[in-house]
Amino acid sequence: MYKLILFFLGIILLCSCQTSTDNQKKVLIDSLSEQLKVLAERIPEDKVPRSYKEETGYQMVGKDDWTSGFPAGTFWYMYEETGDEYWKEQAVKNTVKLEGFQFNTGTHDLGFMVNNSYGQAYRLTVDPEYKKVVLQAAESLITRFNPTVGSIKSWDWNDKWQFPVIVDNMMNLEMLFWASKETGDSKYRDVAITHANTTLKNHFRENMSSYHVVDYDTLTGEVLSKVTYQGFSDESSWGRGQAWGLYGFTMCYRETQNPEYLEAAQKIADYIIRNLPEDYVSYWDYNDPDVPNTERDASAAAVTASALYELSSFATDGSNYLDIAEKITDSLTSVKYRATNGENGGFLLMHSVGNKPGNSEIDVAMNYADYYYVEALKRKFESINKK
Ligand code: GLY
Repeated sequence: MYKLILFFLGIILLCSCQTSTDNQKKVLIDSLSEQLKVLAERIPEDKVPRSYKEETGYQMVGKDDWTSGFPAGTFWYMYEETGDEYWKEQAVKNTVKLEGFQFNTGTHDLGFMVNNSYGQAYRLTVDPEYKKVVLQAAESLITRFNPTVGSIKSWDWNDKWQFPVIVDNMMNLEMLFWASKETGDSKYRDVAITHANTTLKNHFRENMSSYHVVDYDTLTGEVLSKVTYQGFSDESSWGRGQAWGLYGFTMCYRETQNPEYLEAAQKIADYIIRNLPEDYVSYWDYNDPDVPNTERDASAAAVTASALYELSSFATDGSNYLDIAEKITDSLTSVKYRATNGENGGFLLMHSVGNKPGNSEIDVAMNYADYYYVEALKRKFESINKK
């Protein structure tokens, strides 16, 4: 009898914990929804809001900007989390703006742009028209692959570099893995794996921090130079670059089960964790001599958190990664980083850095910070449901 009472008390406790978590999630999602509606209602028909700063207002861009897929992707996640048709409408409207870009072979950013908009659209609607667009983007992306180098070319800045490959490019590989699964043709996956292997070989230092750009000789495949274009110096660790690497190798492990990718992701994560500030939100560059009194980059933090949620489910002892993911996400959700009441132009997160050496977008709201923040929250909720 005594045992039976204890059993029922346990069930009641479990149910009330679940209800309280569900309520907290609802309150947060409602708050994000209210904030993002301010942004959604201000988006012009043919433009994409990239960033916002109180003093200068919005930076609006066209579909050819590398960030053009993020607002659509954020709205697709909001649709998934809320089931609200309003978000589906906004997501569709902002996705189809990119129509035609899938044929563009002039950039490596096709994954960021097309996979996060049309790819999310296909994942959530299974409409074959969306699928066609993403497959075409994958086809365009692999035209930039050079087998001698073993990589996809990032930028066509031919006056500066011969064949620059940036660590960010790891993010575009997810679309290639997907394309092989959808078509049964391994060519996309083969390119992705070769690119990942070349990046692992050449982008990382002894401590697993990464260079931003590695330039290659197109005829011999030799490394010509290693630099950090968007960071403090060539030998420094640009915050978002570390996050792209972490996310990229975690995703590559998910897609291949290659233990070398898991090991790389864990070592990158350990490097980042060793260098995080007290509130767990990344510095814009971990080696800026002004650390700890330098800008934070909420976008790097959001990408890092999202990646750590996934990594925690792969690593043998993933509890530390989960713990840090929670700490970053909690910090981003606090008033220090998260805007409400329509402030911050309706974007969710404040305090991101685009390109500090270029004196561009320093301490601003960024559309990609919001995308990865909402993705991190989705992964957080999924991790709670698995417990
Ligand atoms: N190229 C993407 C970034 O600035 O992180």
